Amino acid sequence: MERLLDAKLSIEDLNEESLRPRTLDEYIGQQKVKEKIRIFIEAAKKRKEPLDHVLLYGPPGLGKTTLANVIAHEMGVDIKVTSGPAIEKAGDLVAILTNIGENNILFIDEIHRLNRTIEEVLYPAMEDLKVDIVIGKGPSAKTIRLSIPPFTLIGATTRAGLLSSPLRNRFGIIERLDYYTIEELSQIIKRSASILKCDIDDRACIEIAKRSRGTPRVANRLLKRIRDFAMVKYDGIITYEVAVEGLEMFEVDELGLDIVDRNILEAIIYKFGGGPVGLSTIAAAIGEDEGTIEDIYEPYLIQEGFLVKTARGRVATQKAITHIAKSKFGGDKR
Ligand SMILES: Nc1ncnc2c1ncn2[C@@H]1O[C@H](COP(=O)(O)OP(=O)(O)O)[C@@H](O)[C@H]1O
Ligand SMILES: [Mg+2]
Repeated sequence: MERLLDAKLSIEDLNEESLRPRTLDEYIGQQKVKEKIRIFIEAAKKRKEPLDHVLLYGPPGLGKTTLANVIAHEMGVDIKVTSGPAIEKAGDLVAILTNIGENNILFIDEIHRLNRTIEEVLYPAMEDLKVDIVIGKGPSAKTIRLSIPPFTLIGATTRAGLLSSPLRNRFGIIERLDYYTIEELSQIIKRSASILKCDIDDRACIEIAKRSRGTPRVANRLLKRIRDFAMVKYDGIITYEVAVEGLEMFEVDELGLDIVDRNILEAIIYKFGGGPVGLSTIAAAIGEDEGTIEDIYEPYLIQEGFLVKTARGRVATQKAITHIAKSKFGGDKR
């Protein structure tokens, strides 16, 4: 099912490129990370060296890919983009590394999904700028060690915990991106609206920001849908009233919860007395997949204090109970 509030990249975001900030100044929020990166970049440029290897981690849609591209732009170097699942053989990675230009960046998205033997190619490359290539087959096979130019590896992952420690230890700079504040999201929405040439007032920006789950990708997606709504139902101008009406039509509530989020909370509250209740029981009750609930829905519900995980199962908080009781969407109370 297509989900408006899904922070993962979807078909809807294919033209997301045009909304991407290019420079550190345009990159909104993440102040502390930005401050440090700015210093590291300046130092590397003064030494005429590549930037140290960078690991960026955090939930989807918070700006990891964007930041990797911003770093390349600020360093004035080229960036080669690939991802863990896209590299199938060790030889693919060797080929990329031996072809990289001096001081350029190799960006590996979803780096936790590199398999271990491929990952091992990275160790000598990151540490000593060497790659081993095997020539020939069988008993006569020989390994030769090639030098590669100085380069920067930028890795991005949503699950830093899944990274092996030898790999993690080879990154000099490890930064975690956090959820954005409403103020920051509302600035992002304003900026995107101006790129999309769409008229929006400040209160509408704030209202959309409040329902964007702390995530720029969600904010941009909601903005585009509300823009459609405003164009078809009104004169295209997104006022506060138009934004609220559109958000209600899409069933995104005042705290950024959608129908599935509310179904999860309602099941725990109305069917299981508020919990604790096991994940598989919740999944069966609402007809969703366990993994989907755990990876996609729960993180935000936990982060916002609607749900807690205990040893005996999930428990709905008072905040969830209050919110669901006054929710005007009324969902699934069977
Ligand atoms: N700091 C930011 N300022 C402005 N827009 C941002 C920022 N971070 C992300 N975005 C927007 O959100 C979208 C998703 O960001 P992306 O870098 O693809 O996230 P991730 O790689 O972490 O999943 C981008 O296209 C960009 O338009
Ligand atoms: Mg990305």
